Amino acid sequence: MIKDWDLFLAPYKQAVDELKIKLKGMRTQFEMQGTHSPIEFVTGRVKPIHSILDKAAKKDIPSDKLEEIQDIAGLRMMCQFVDDIKRVVELLRMRNDMEIIEERDYISQKKESGYRSYHLVIQYPVQTIGGEKKILVEIQVRTLAMNFWATIEHSLNYKYSGRFPKEIELRLQRAAEAAFQLDEEMSKIRGEIQEAQVIFSRKTESNDKSL
Ligand code: GTP
Ligand code: MG
Repeated sequence: MIKDWDLFLAPYKQAVDELKIKLKGMRTQFEMQGTHSPIEFVTGRVKPIHSILDKAAKKDIPSDKLEEIQDIAGLRMMCQFVDDIKRVVELLRMRNDMEIIEERDYISQKKESGYRSYHLVIQYPVQTIGGEKKILVEIQVRTLAMNFWATIEHSLNYKYSGRFPKEIELRLQRAAEAAFQLDEEMSKIRGEIQEAQVIFSRKTESNDKSL
């Protein structure tokens, strides 16, 4: 297949770069207000070429329709608490610089693997010298515990090419349950944690000033 990958991927790179700045900016705004940020941190990546080709083959997407793949541009927004996820999704719904075209709630309906996250597929307009180009971007919103589990499961998936030994599969399911329990426990002591974090950030602020 002959394809100019640099040219094809350029708008996706631009979208990831722009959205990382914009979504991180949401966190900064909460910090300036001195209120708890529902966003802990944001990451983004452009899907590697070999993964794009793998996915196209798996989903029978022809090489001239690769833009149908929803996660060539991908962003992740990590939250401390499960309830923060809803707030983040609300904040995304309010924005005028993107259009949400799909939502998948794998939190109230976790996947068989044990995977939990809230997924949004958005249409995002990138401004190029050739005019506006609308591309698809996948945003995954999840807690730190969900992220921990998904990251580990993903690397094991890679190692075993998705065919886990029974023992590992069982352990991963238990780990998913433990991550769920951790989220539950943290939600219960949320008030306490946030108070502590406000005091802590005030302290570090005054320390910073005295430096
Ligand atoms: P796929 O990307 O082919 O799965 O497309 P889909 O239409 O089924 O989308 P889905 O929302 O199920 O998954 C999209 C992305 O979510 C994946 O590329 C992963 O990043 C993540 N994901 C989904 N399921 C799992 C899982 O079981 N484990 C992990 N670690 N990540 C998952
Ligand atoms: Mg899937």
